[in-house]
Amino acid sequence: MTKIETNITVDAAYEAVAPDDFPAMMEVDRYNKRSTAFDKIISATHDHFWDPMDTKYIDFSAPFDMENEYLVDPELFADLKTAVGDKLDEKQKIKLVNLDTQWSLSSILHGEAGALALSASLCHILKDPGAQEYAANQAREEARHVAGFSRYIQARWGKPVQVGPALGDTLTELVNSPLVWKKIVGMQMLVEGLAMGAFATFYKMGRDPLMVKLMQLVMTDEAFHHKFGKIWADRTIPNINPAERDAIEDWAWHIFQVLLFNLGSPEQKKHIYAAVGLDWEWVQGAFMEAMTDANIREEMQESTNIFRVLIKTLLKAGIITSRTSMNYAAFIDMKELYAEGDRMVGDDIAEEGIKYLLQLNGQGNRAYSLDKMTAAE
Ligand SMILES: [Fe+2]
Ligand SMILES: [Fe+2]
Repeated sequence: MTKIETNITVDAAYEAVAPDDFPAMMEVDRYNKRSTAFDKIISATHDHFWDPMDTKYIDFSAPFDMENEYLVDPELFADLKTAVGDKLDEKQKIKLVNLDTQWSLSSILHGEAGALALSASLCHILKDPGAQEYAANQAREEARHVAGFSRYIQARWGKPVQVGPALGDTLTELVNSPLVWKKIVGMQMLVEGLAMGAFATFYKMGRDPLMVKLMQLVMTDEAFHHKFGKIWADRTIPNINPAERDAIEDWAWHIFQVLLFNLGSPEQKKHIYAAVGLDWEWVQGAFMEAMTDANIREEMQESTNIFRVLIKTLLKAGIITSRTSMNYAAFIDMKELYAEGDRMVGDDIAEEGIKYLLQLNGQGNRAYSLDKMTAAE
């Protein structure tokens, strides 16, 4: 894989310096060189204000019967469609699904901590004051996601589980990288894309009203973060040389595999299977066997729909081309994606959430268009 160790700046809004070059921030000519590309997103922040510490928005004391109820529709869990399902009674299935949900939400929480640190790190390297203000604003929103998920996980399980090595290493690489493209493609497009897919799925399939509420509130913010990545891609990808573009495409495929492994590999979540008396290697064998059955494979594909937003984002941004399109075709119907417009599955949920927040925040009942609010000037 070719490595690119520069920022690949083709649009002045993404000009960057080294993380420790604060003197560059005091150059007198810098202050008035502000891109207007992010102004609408920055002003919109008050439209979707919410506070995870205020019961007016969300009440984390709402109870849930963890022993007898599924937090999420068990249909979503491909595990149960394999030999794993045959080995467990109903209570064990509930235990498995709810522990798996703890794993997913813990991964999301670690991802939120990553997004917070990454946005803050963008403030240290981006020179454009508008881009910096955008990043500072995102950092603030990510901080409330960290608070929201921490509180939900605390209410249901006490505390989160340790990050899996694959995800932990990747988040660390993204946060510490001084490269703008790596941060934006890795976090804004891949991690945020996966998060939008996961939030939409939990929103639709969640059986705990508190979880569903949290997903919607978080999505009102994330939809904007996702658009920030799109603006970068629209201004950058068509204007870079083919070698750079190929390198970004290959690196995106590498990160995709890491995210997939974190979510789907029994090895990463041994403790969950151990808790219901199953050995993770046996589970892996059951998965492999299931993959040879066309019906089960199709159902398992359905549960990887959470990768849809991510893959669609990369495709629409020109980061998936015929070079790697076949790799992703194992997870998603690529032809269908090519034919679709830019609208994402989470956008509708976010818009509904914003309308609700506008009313709650005393800003009245008005129509809201996410596309309008995020269009770059
Ligand atoms: Fe977030
Ligand atoms: Fe985000």
